[in-house]
Amino acid sequence: MKIDDIKHVAVIGAGAMGHSIAQVALMSGYSVSLYDINNKIVENGKLRIEWSFKRFIEKDKISEGGYKNFMNNLTLTTDLEEAIKKADLCIEAAPEKLDLKKKIFSDLDKLAPTHAILASNTSNMSITEIGAVTQRPEKVIGTHFFNPPVLMPIVEIVKSEKTSKETIKVVTDFIKKSNKIPIFSKDSPGFICNRIIAASTLLLNLMLDRKEYPPEKIDAAAMNMGSPIGPYQLQDYLGLDIVYDSMNYLSERLSKDYAPTSTMEKLLKENRLGKKTGKGIYNWEKGKPEIDQSDPADFDMMKPIRVQINEAVKVLEEGIGTAKDIDTGMKLAFNNLMGPFELAENTDLADLTLFLDGLAEKYGKEVFRAHKWIRDGILMEQIAKSEEVR
Ligand SMILES: NC(=O)c1ccc[n+]([C@@H]2O[C@H](COP(=O)([O-])OP(=O)(O)OC[C@H]3O[C@@H](n4cnc5c(N)ncnc54)[C@H](O)[C@@H]3O)[C@@H](O)[C@H]2O)c1
Repeated sequence: MKIDDIKHVAVIGAGAMGHSIAQVALMSGYSVSLYDINNKIVENGKLRIEWSFKRFIEKDKISEGGYKNFMNNLTLTTDLEEAIKKADLCIEAAPEKLDLKKKIFSDLDKLAPTHAILASNTSNMSITEIGAVTQRPEKVIGTHFFNPPVLMPIVEIVKSEKTSKETIKVVTDFIKKSNKIPIFSKDSPGFICNRIIAASTLLLNLMLDRKEYPPEKIDAAAMNMGSPIGPYQLQDYLGLDIVYDSMNYLSERLSKDYAPTSTMEKLLKENRLGKKTGKGIYNWEKGKPEIDQSDPADFDMMKPIRVQINEAVKVLEEGIGTAKDIDTGMKLAFNNLMGPFELAENTDLADLTLFLDGLAEKYGKEVFRAHKWIRDGILMEQIAKSEEVR
């Protein structure tokens, strides 16, 4: 199979990610079917696509005629067979529950043409395990788009133990055709980007449990450093249920340290899922909460970034991604000005070790403990070595 053999794309799940992935495929010239479990949800997905296209028209990024052509290529359906019977590529964007994804992939495998590639937008979960429920594990792959897919410039491509070179090539070409930059990850919990961000999210959520700072003051401090959105508002925007499920998965697969924090447990119980339910860490009922940037917390926003450096070192040592892809991923996926290894170059590793070990003690979380390459002061040599091996 080659990229030119992809004519029709089916997107399974029309929520926050699915509708926007469908829009990406429409903008690359594909005919697209968008599936969800009921009419109201698919119709809402279509409204969200239309809303976004209208913003593109206002900004002169697309013409009225182009918009109409794109929309003519979109089919909505609640019939899975109908959605995928002509699909050359299916992209699943259903909730982050492993059993649900396995069930969907088993159905996709039965109903999609035998040549079709089956991709998952999971942020964390094993592509190998998802592929194992199909008769075509070599055609199963991860395509981890970031939110919102239509604007974010990067996609993490996840190769399972069985994904074929041909599948990787076709999907890489598809991502490039969508004007996105691909980075490549081994199949490991959280892949590159979510694994690294989860460590700093854990720190911020432990701080929330202990009421160390009001969230809006931390968000103000982050925005004063150039972030378009603070880390707590970002969690609300992504969906606290999605963050919760991710942390749960990482706690089962990587370390119990990631177990959802008590504030997260409480918010989930109250169905405060963030923007999507109107309330989360913030109240969104009257739109995006205003952050008063003139009153930031007296908190060094480099602290969570230093936690990211430590986790990035583990990701590199475990061979999950290259140093270059790790830096590219963290910059483009999370609007960081520099990647963790670019930052590490000018970081005093002895000082970093003291800081990380201090965090491990303070919160009782070994996941924060300094990696041996940092502790032994050999990080830059190891990064250089990893590049030679490639
Ligand atoms: N939200 C994010 O920022 C983000 C970023 C990257 C990746 N992801 C991943 O993308 C996936 C989707 O996340 P989301 O934020 O769009 O979630 P969402 O809750 O907004 O949307 C999920 C959609 O899947 C639908 N669904 C439920 N059961 C289904 C089934 N059996 N078949 C098909 N669709 C079904 C739901 O009705 C819903 O519309 C998850 O795996 C998530 O981890 C999310």
